[in-house]
Amino acid sequence: MNKSTRKAIIAGNWKMNKTRPEAKELLEAIKPLVANAEGNIEVIACVPFTNLETAISTTAGSNVKIGAENVHFEKSGAYTGEISADMLVELGVEYVVIGHSERRQYFGETDETVNKRLLSAIGSGLKAILCVGETLEQREQGITEEVIAMQTKIALQGTCPKCIKNVVIAYEPVWAIGTGKVATPEQAQEVCAFIRKTIAGLFNQEVADGITIQYGGSMNAKNCAELLAKSDIDGGLIGGASLKAEDFNTIVQAAVNG
Ligand code: 13P
Repeated sequence: MNKSTRKAIIAGNWKMNKTRPEAKELLEAIKPLVANAEGNIEVIACVPFTNLETAISTTAGSNVKIGAENVHFEKSGAYTGEISADMLVELGVEYVVIGHSERRQYFGETDETVNKRLLSAIGSGLKAILCVGETLEQREQGITEEVIAMQTKIALQGTCPKCIKNVVIAYEPVWAIGTGKVATPEQAQEVCAFIRKTIAGLFNQEVADGITIQYGGSMNAKNCAELLAKSDIDGGLIGGASLKAEDFNTIVQAAVNG
């Protein structure tokens, strides 16, 4: 299938960076640069909870969409420090990152809680960016595909071919995140194609052909074009480089020109 029929999504994951004034300044800089990304291309900034309202008002009327970086799986209740999907929807948030490796690594996230968060998010009308990826140890053990298949299958349990339209998958090899050690385009393509095959097995080929699969992990202004040119890489989830308007825009333009 021709990848140009799929949505290309370039999303920044700001992680724990930027105060509200800083967030406003960065988004004001990004907005005009990426204004030409339209049609089949989406530009998203996933920002800390405290920046959501500022980010939404700053980007109103532009083509930049706003996402959160996590969501709790219950609707409400005694979960001190957590934020529900309904709270995000009420703010006007459109996307949410789920199962980022930093949450798995530092905050006890498991495939089961990822699944619960994903169901809660799409059930409330959010679009989910589901992160999967192997550690260096797992890659060296030759179990990358097993790990990716398990993470993908468990995360998507209970979803249907229709609601999967609100799910984007981000392949983020843990060893490439924040390390400057980017996966080669061939390595990234291989796993993204494997994820698509896994989706075809879970649903059908049509669903697999339609789902957007991003690469994330040290993607930057220099290496983005080569990665985005690959047939199963439909976009990027960008950490460090999304904090610089020019660099983020270079990645967006690579998608526009791709
Ligand atoms: P870096 O681009 O900083 O490696 O981060 C990638 C990432 O974790 C995006 O979610």
